[in-house]
Amino acid sequence: MLACLLCAFIPNTFSFNVQCHHNDKQALLNFKQGVIDPSHMLSSWSTQLDCCQWIGVMCDNITNRVTQLTLPCSTTLPTYRDKEDKSHCLTGSIYLSLLLLELQFIDYLDLSNNDFLAIQFDYSLHSRHCHNNLFVAAPSPCRCLNSSTLRHLNLSLNKNLAINNLRWLSNISSLEYLNLGFIDLHKETNWLQIVTTLPSLSVLAMRSCQLQDWSLSLQYANFTALEVLNLSENEFNSGLPKWLFNLNCSISTLHARENALIGQLPKELLNLRQLKTLNLQENNLDGPIPDWLGELQFMQELLLANNMFSGSIPTILGNLSSLTLLTVDSNQLSGVVTEKHFAKLSELKALDISSSPPLTFDFDSHWIPPFQLEELDIAFAGPNIPMWFYTQRSIESLTISYSSFEAPSKFWNFVSRMTELHLEGNSINGNLSNVLLNSTFIDMSSNGLKGSLPRLSQNVAVVDLSNNSLSGDISPFLCDYKMLNEKTNLVFLDISRNHLSGGLTNCWKNWKSLVYVNLGSNNLSGYIPPSMGFLSKLTSLHLHENTLHGHIPPSLQNCHSLLIFNVRENNLSGNIPNWIPISVKALQLRSNNFSGKIPNEIGNMTKLESLDFSKNQLWGEIPESLSRLSFLSYLNLSYNNLTGKIPLGTQLQGFSELSYKGNCDLCGTPLTKVCFQGGKSKDTNPTEEANDGEYEFLSWFYIGIESGFVTGFLGVGSVIFLNTKWRHVYFTFLYGLRDRVYVMLLIKINSFCQTQQIA
Ligand SMILES: *[C@@H]1O[C@H](CO)[C@@H](O)[C@H](O)[C@H]1NC(C)=O
Ligand SMILES: *[C@@H]1O[C@H](CO)[C@@H](O)[C@H](O)[C@H]1NC(C)=O
Ligand SMILES: *[C@@H]1O[C@H](CO)[C@@H](O)[C@H](O)[C@H]1NC(C)=O
Ligand SMILES: *[C@@H]1O[C@H](CO)[C@@H](O)[C@H](O)[C@H]1NC(C)=O
Ligand SMILES: *[C@@H]1O[C@H](CO)[C@@H](O)[C@H](O)[C@H]1NC(C)=O
Ligand SMILES: *[C@@H]1O[C@H](CO)[C@@H](O)[C@H](O)[C@H]1NC(C)=O
Ligand SMILES: *[C@@H]1O[C@H](CO)[C@@H](O)[C@H](O)[C@H]1NC(C)=O
Ligand SMILES: *[C@@H]1O[C@H](CO)[C@@H](O)[C@H](O)[C@H]1NC(C)=O
Ligand SMILES: *[C@@H]1O[C@H](CO)[C@@H](O)[C@H](O)[C@H]1NC(C)=O
Ligand SMILES: *[C@@H]1O[C@H](CO)[C@@H](O)[C@H](O)[C@H]1NC(C)=O
Ligand SMILES: *[C@@H]1O[C@H](CO)[C@@H](O)[C@H](O)[C@H]1NC(C)=O
Ligand SMILES: *[C@@H]1O[C@H](CO)[C@@H](O)[C@H](O)[C@H]1NC(C)=O
Repeated sequence: MLACLLCAFIPNTFSFNVQCHHNDKQALLNFKQGVIDPSHMLSSWSTQLDCCQWIGVMCDNITNRVTQLTLPCSTTLPTYRDKEDKSHCLTGSIYLSLLLLELQFIDYLDLSNNDFLAIQFDYSLHSRHCHNNLFVAAPSPCRCLNSSTLRHLNLSLNKNLAINNLRWLSNISSLEYLNLGFIDLHKETNWLQIVTTLPSLSVLAMRSCQLQDWSLSLQYANFTALEVLNLSENEFNSGLPKWLFNLNCSISTLHARENALIGQLPKELLNLRQLKTLNLQENNLDGPIPDWLGELQFMQELLLANNMFSGSIPTILGNLSSLTLLTVDSNQLSGVVTEKHFAKLSELKALDISSSPPLTFDFDSHWIPPFQLEELDIAFAGPNIPMWFYTQRSIESLTISYSSFEAPSKFWNFVSRMTELHLEGNSINGNLSNVLLNSTFIDMSSNGLKGSLPRLSQNVAVVDLSNNSLSGDISPFLCDYKMLNEKTNLVFLDISRNHLSGGLTNCWKNWKSLVYVNLGSNNLSGYIPPSMGFLSKLTSLHLHENTLHGHIPPSLQNCHSLLIFNVRENNLSGNIPNWIPISVKALQLRSNNFSGKIPNEIGNMTKLESLDFSKNQLWGEIPESLSRLSFLSYLNLSYNNLTGKIPLGTQLQGFSELSYKGNCDLCGTPLTKVCFQGGKSKDTNPTEEANDGEYEFLSWFYIGIESGFVTGFLGVGSVIFLNTKWRHVYFTFLYGLRDRVYVMLLIKINSFCQTQQIA
């Protein structure tokens, strides 16, 4: 009783030197008891400091009661699809009823993006503390949550959290914003009935909650204030439910992306007159894109991509004068697209309209669109690019797919102002001899590009020109760079699978920012130049399938970050160096002329996961130290001139015979040949050639990318990482690369299995 009197008194009496309220402080300290805080995020939460000054705590500036608790975890790692590092985030339990009951004036609670494992509603912790005299505050007389003051609750992205029961939500009748994104709610089948009891709810975000049922037959859901509904990435596999169409007056944003929605778009959707964003991407919707969508006059973002819509795009969409974003790509659309489709779209900023086969474009060659796009994703049917393309001077990101055209020099000049160019996998023909590329991200792989390598400006960070028909010497590309007299920012260079020739040049000093270099499968000759040693950030060096000769230059030991070194199928010779950077995870030296012994120092490369020295002229014994490599999961020493006993150790005996065959004087498990005294043994007939092994090497590569390969790319002090958006693009790009490696791996495995079956 006294406590209650005091709490009513203090704010008024000492309004100029107010202190955090005792009850609030105790409630927060009790909340902290349930939290595991590995990085001491809550170290300021001590009795020495006024609780209104604790990190994450905000008090009302008049009453000094705690009104906000904001403790989202910040995870800056630009991991995309990868497991995020959350080891520094808060974990343990959220004693939610304790927070909401004791913090009587709490209005805003954000514990998002942490790694909480449970939400507790019972008061046992509280009572236990009472008994232990730890809990000093007078417990409130009513134990149930009831008419809370909470308006904002964000628990999203606690990805290991599952909530089986949401009934407690109905007690927080003041809620206006509720975000439970990425929490597993699949056990709560009544989620809809519960959230509709919240009379003030205006934003409901339940993205990726493993929800399966959205009450298809329910006629009416009693949302009275709902404006934003986000149910993307759940498991709804029906049509749109009826209750949705009765949200007629309020709802402006509806996200239901990435479910498994089926059927045609029902005309009742037209009830939602205020709709500004409709995101139905990545579902299985079919039928036509209806004409009546053109009547939703406030529409700003219409996302229908990745469904099974067929027929043509209705011209009336050209009436949606507020539209800024339109995606219809990856459907089964056909028909002709004309100026009429865009007649009033003066606000359009992003357009995704690519289709396979491409839609037919019939534009007046003098047409000037009412819009200036920032992002364009398109497929051109014709042999030429529509002229209006050249009016779009604000495009930052261009993606062209399913297209076949001749790119004139005008095209290359025009795209040079764009930041991202995704032109991979088309049949774009063109001569890059006199082209200057200036975009930060460039993927033009797998096209019909010819001529010599283009020049790169200092803006380029990522360039993939692999699998084209580029030819000629690479030295102007690498060495004339000095003429630009600028600092290069190139991180990723892939010019593999072309017809490039000549030496590797000694100009690598100019390209110190490189992290990934792939020059494989060309006609390159000569030595590996010593200046490659300047590439101290290099993680991957691929020089395979060329005709390089000579030794591996000692300067490469400066490439401290090297993870993958691949010189398969060249004419390199000399000893396998004993100084290969110990960071290396994959060493691919197959089919060269390395004659000498396997260096004993191989045992120092403790991170090695994949090793292929096959088809060389190595002799002598396999060093004992090789058996120390505990991560080794792929080994191929076949077709050399190795002798003696295979060293003992589970690792080395675990590989198949194929790893060692074709070495006449090698003996011991797993070979059938028994070692006689002195290690000498009698020859057995070499059997048929070992399989290529490439697919196994790649299978390591894929796994390697999964675990740490991409992280290797992070050690780059390049400017591109200062820009979050670019960082994201870069990682998307790298993962795209990973996916391509994976696809390549599947193809190789398939063709390998087929040849095996035939044989
Ligand atoms: C108190 O907070 C309100 C909003 O919460 C703000 O408008 C006002 O300026 C603040 N007053 C002082 C004295 O800081
Ligand atoms: C909710 O939390 C997520 C993750 O921290 C954050 O991205 C989002 O902006 C938050 N919502 C609001 C409205 O602050
Ligand atoms: C919600 O309120 C009801 C009474 O209105 C009460 O019975 C129930 O225990 C409360 N739930 C919680 C979690 O406090
Ligand atoms: C809600 O709490 C108030 C006191 O804050 C109490 O008078 C009332 O009975 C409670 N209602 C329910 C349904 O528990
Ligand atoms: C809908 O919610 C309002 C406001 O909370 C309430 O007054 C009304 O009774 C509810 N209607 C139904 C059918 O539940
Ligand atoms: C809602 O879902 C979309 C994806 O459909 C996502 O981009 C957006 O950030 C989500 N918003 C919230 C608040 O979860
Ligand atoms: C909105 O929906 C309610 C309930 O279905 C209905 O009574 C009302 O007429 C509708 N209003 C409009 C403008 O469509
Ligand atoms: C196009 O929109 C205008 C209002 O912006 C409207 O008056 C007109 O009827 C619409 N045209 C069609 C064909 O719906
Ligand atoms: C090259 O890119 C920069 C930065 O994106 C841009 O400012 C410049 O205009 C571009 N140059 C050309 C010739 O397009
Ligand atoms: C590309 O263009 C250059 C000069 O513009 C020319 O010398 C070369 O022959 C062309 N290459 C091809 C393959 O057409
Ligand atoms: C490398 O291996 C050699 C021979 O096994 C050994 O003498 C040397 O100490 C090792 N170096 C390091 C850094 O482990
Ligand atoms: C293997 O080694 C033996 C003796 O050391 C040598 O005579 C022979 O030529 C070598 N074979 C090859 C293929 O290098």
